[in-house]
Amino acid sequence: MITNRQVVLKRAPAAMPKAADFEVVACPMPEGPAPEGLLLRVIALSMDPYLGGRLRGRHMGEPAPAPGARLPGFAVAEVLESAHPGFRAGDYVVTETGWCRFAAVPAAGARKVLPGAAPISTHLGVLGMPGLTAWAGVTQLAKVGPDDVFVVDAAAGAVGGTAGQIARNLGARAVGIAGGAAKTHLVTEIYGFDACVDYRSEGWQTRLKAACGAGPTVHFENVGETVLQTVFPMLRNYARVVLCGLAEHYHSDGAPPVLPVGPIVGKRAAIFGLVVYDFYERLNEWVALATPWIAAGRLAVHEDASEGLDSAPAQFERMLKGQHLGKAIVRVGPERA
Ligand SMILES: NC(=O)c1ccc[n+]([C@@H]2O[C@H](COP(=O)([O-])OP(=O)(O)OC[C@H]3O[C@@H](n4cnc5c(N)ncnc54)[C@H](OP(=O)(O)O)[C@@H]3O)[C@@H](O)[C@H]2O)c1
Repeated sequence: MITNRQVVLKRAPAAMPKAADFEVVACPMPEGPAPEGLLLRVIALSMDPYLGGRLRGRHMGEPAPAPGARLPGFAVAEVLESAHPGFRAGDYVVTETGWCRFAAVPAAGARKVLPGAAPISTHLGVLGMPGLTAWAGVTQLAKVGPDDVFVVDAAAGAVGGTAGQIARNLGARAVGIAGGAAKTHLVTEIYGFDACVDYRSEGWQTRLKAACGAGPTVHFENVGETVLQTVFPMLRNYARVVLCGLAEHYHSDGAPPVLPVGPIVGKRAAIFGLVVYDFYERLNEWVALATPWIAAGRLAVHEDASEGLDSAPAQFERMLKGQHLGKAIVRVGPERA
């Protein structure tokens, strides 16, 4: 008999959610799709930094889930049964299933994805929301070109790693900032950045400056104040800065980050706030560009996968602490049942 399981919130998490805040429990198998809905088998769950804030009611005005509720979140899944003419059994979709093995969801929120040059789970990372975020920041906001020196932090992650690779494919010099030797190795040896600096090592500011020559023309920020305060004085005049994420501040109840206002004025810098939701209708454009890059080895995909739904709470805690390498996912079931 097929059984269903889900991950629920045991208690309201403190600043930094922990694996012990969640429990994996049996739950009813959905009887089938609702009208206009889909019955799905989850293949992989996406572990994203925003989820930590969402659990505390700090993401885009969405309420915090109550104790006992299923963990929210996106997954790539196989359609087992469809009650919608646009989908059929065997299709793959990305949608919000929450953390479970089987889910009945409305078809309206589901996006069909195709297997191709990379594992289907790539649609949660490079070919999904994080990749689209990178593409939007690099090509639509900063409009990176061959004369640019492009700097990005959290450079080993799905957003940062993709952003640097896009910049490099557009002819720019890509310089990463990442925490630790394993991450800097991934960034230069697998992602192919021109350089990457470990900000946890002594003298990283000097090495960053040296790696950027006359200075960065574009900075893509994923982390927060520590890096911003270092990079801003190095920027060239008329630099463009994309503010994408503030991972360093999501789980702190301290004061919000302070932007270096003096250098922003002095450098005549242009600051772009990025919200990926503005670009969702252009996801196919990004996928059409990225898929041949992946096939040609010009865009590397690196996943940090844990195995089985029961591993989700620990994998989530690792991801929130930045201990993962690449795009963090949980493999719940095989690509084909
Ligand atoms: N604006 C948007 O629409 C949008 C959309 C998607 C994602 N984002 C943001 O983009 C950023 C990157 O996302 P991602 O999915 O690719 O995540 P990720 O880079 O895989 O993970 C976040 C990284 O932030 C770094 N970090 C530094 N200080 C940290 C701290 N105190 N706690 C946790 N992490 C810390 C860690 O890398 P190091 O060890 O290398 O420092 C960590 O691996 C995040 O800030 C995310 O919220 C924004």
